[in-house]
Amino acid sequence: MSVELARTVAETRLAVARLRDAGKTIGFVPTMGALHAGHGRLIDVARTECGGVVVSVFVNPIQFNQQADYDRYPRTIEADLTFCEERGADVVFAPPVDEMYPRPLRTHVDVEGLTEHLCGAFRPGHFRGVATVVAKLFAIVQPDRAYFGEKDAQQLAVIRRMVADLHLPVTIVGVPTVREPSGLALSSRNQRLSEKERAIAPAIYRALRAAAAAIERGERDPQAAKCAALAELSCDARMRLEYLEIVDPEELQPVAEIAGPVLIATAVWLGETRLIDNVTAVPRRGE
Ligand code: PAF
Repeated sequence: MSVELARTVAETRLAVARLRDAGKTIGFVPTMGALHAGHGRLIDVARTECGGVVVSVFVNPIQFNQQADYDRYPRTIEADLTFCEERGADVVFAPPVDEMYPRPLRTHVDVEGLTEHLCGAFRPGHFRGVATVVAKLFAIVQPDRAYFGEKDAQQLAVIRRMVADLHLPVTIVGVPTVREPSGLALSSRNQRLSEKERAIAPAIYRALRAAAAAIERGERDPQAAKCAALAELSCDARMRLEYLEIVDPEELQPVAEIAGPVLIATAVWLGETRLIDNVTAVPRRGE
């Protein structure tokens, strides 16, 4: 069966109702398109867990802080449709902007406390835009389960919290980051890297792993673990560190001492491209 393209909210609801009438549970993969193997993994996991799979492809204007970044975000709907079809998705919801935002938006979702630091400190309003569009998409698709990549750890934490706080009837599933053999996390933004930038980008994961290894060996001082990471990043002048933080994985607050599992998260600029990545580390138990 070929994938069904829905452009409107009404078409999407009809397509989802048909799947439900056939007794299928609904798995939902929200995306902004330019699909790659990382998205493929999300669709694959949804496919194994749910009878029906809906993918949304929507470059959401209200989560971009810079118009230029929004304008040059890759839009590849034909390739995305083929990709979804090959992965066995049932429906692709790809609305035009005025279908999602037919009038000036007066209602937003703000997840306080989780959105002011890490990426949120450098992209004001970004997570408000993400939480708002995801809440709208959930209301349109009404999935049983929704799939998000762990690469966007702050986004995942924000969505989990929104769903818990608003009692939204959907189970959020985090899917591990897909990496190139070099360790570089797959991202639509990797397409923008020059050959030289691509060659140095794997240092980001090496840096995160260096901090994680220090913690796994017993380091409890976050500053010391950070130094281990920064040593990997400082080797190339073309890299500009935006932040590298060690935080607790749920509330995303910086920790004074590493006493339990932590998230090590970073954002790095390579030329004009901003890349994010993270790993979790579990400290060795004290003797
Ligand atoms: O992760 C993304 O691609 C986007 O932030 C999302 C969740 C689809 C919302 O626009």
